[in-house]
Amino acid sequence: MKILVVGSGGREHTIIRKLKESPRVDKIYAAPGNGGIAKDAECVNIGAMDKKGIVDFARENNIDIVFVAPDDPLAAGMVDALNENGIRAFGPKANAAIIEGSKVFSKNLMKKYGIPTADYEVFSDPAKVMEYIDSRNRYPVVIKADGLALGKGVIIALDREEALGAVKEIMEDKKFGDSGNNVVVEEFLTGPEVSVLAFTDGKVVKPMVSSKDHKRAYDNDEGLNTGGMGTISPNPYYTDGIAEICRKTIFEPTIAAMNNEGRTFKGCLYFGLMITPDGPKVIEYNARFGDPEAQVVLPRLKTDLVDIMEAIIDERLSDIDIQWSDEATACVVMASGGYPLSYPKGLEISGLDENGQVEGATVYHAGTKLENGKFYTNGGRVLGITASGKTLDEALEKAYCAVSKISFDGVHYRKDIGKTK
Ligand code: AMP
Ligand code: GLY
Repeated sequence: MKILVVGSGGREHTIIRKLKESPRVDKIYAAPGNGGIAKDAECVNIGAMDKKGIVDFARENNIDIVFVAPDDPLAAGMVDALNENGIRAFGPKANAAIIEGSKVFSKNLMKKYGIPTADYEVFSDPAKVMEYIDSRNRYPVVIKADGLALGKGVIIALDREEALGAVKEIMEDKKFGDSGNNVVVEEFLTGPEVSVLAFTDGKVVKPMVSSKDHKRAYDNDEGLNTGGMGTISPNPYYTDGIAEICRKTIFEPTIAAMNNEGRTFKGCLYFGLMITPDGPKVIEYNARFGDPEAQVVLPRLKTDLVDIMEAIIDERLSDIDIQWSDEATACVVMASGGYPLSYPKGLEISGLDENGQVEGATVYHAGTKLENGKFYTNGGRVLGITASGKTLDEALEKAYCAVSKISFDGVHYRKDIGKTK
């Protein structure tokens, strides 16, 4: 089979490495890919949002399945465009990807179907937001841009001044463009966070092994929210008991709700959960694999990913028995100095070798480019170093050992992955 993976980050590199393990796959293309991906797939110079470019390439090259990995092209209808042209694609259509693309949609969906989530109100007028926040007068308060914002559109305001600043940035300065036309103001919840990615064909939902992201830029969960600075799998807070509650009150009701709305979801649905004192609640949905959750979850997948993708496209996921390894995995993201704000690009990376430096470790490239045989930084999150072990501690030790051998100017990474709630 020939597979085209749309996207260019660490998640896409991980997906490609997993697809390479399949005896059914002859050729993998990436659009546009990155420096590290170029070693594992043929990168083609087509942007992830270029629907016509992707459709034309898939048709001309007889691609069997297009794997649309990032949120933006899913929300923009990449899968719809491919299907309309008779091309098989893995990922939800636009009318289902809205579960991530609009927080107003997802919050209203959860309210309508009784799926546990934080209490909230929606606003389109900045003056009204502050009126509401003042009348409530309870901090912290959570303010979220409605639309996609690279994982950075959520502000936890500790006082009135911070709330005012957030409302101004999102709604008046339009820091996230039209994504900030509406905002959700939400109750602040507490408890450990869990990411659960799930395969679904719209009929059944098969949760993958759990994971935990570390979203803040710095140690001790300080600094700004990022796309994710590191992950572990499994998540120690996700017990079998919690998993069963989630299946009954969150996973299955969500699939049913989307069907009932005429928005059947097919692909990977990501449940961002918080285990609150009142039980698990949904913090957010994503319409895709998480990044860097994919980097710790997919390495544990033992079943052929292509078999699963086809079963989802053909709506026969119930026939497939999905197997996972018992090993623990950890991923440490090496980011550019300054990320998630501005950062330099084009710095040479030293100490990289493709075997991951340490037995049991793998280097997934997120933002790199390859020039004359050398790798240079080319994004905020540069590398995700993943390792596996019999225990989480062993996985972490190997991952950090591999990290210590790699460097570039200004590199920053968290030293406490796997150690915080
Ligand atoms: P989101 O992009 O919606 O996942 O939010 C990013 C991060 O903000 C989450 O991973 C949480 O750490 C935090 N967060 C979002 N909503 C809430 C909430 N209602 N209460 C507490 N923390 C939250
Ligand atoms: N790591 C969180 C996300 O992919 O949105």
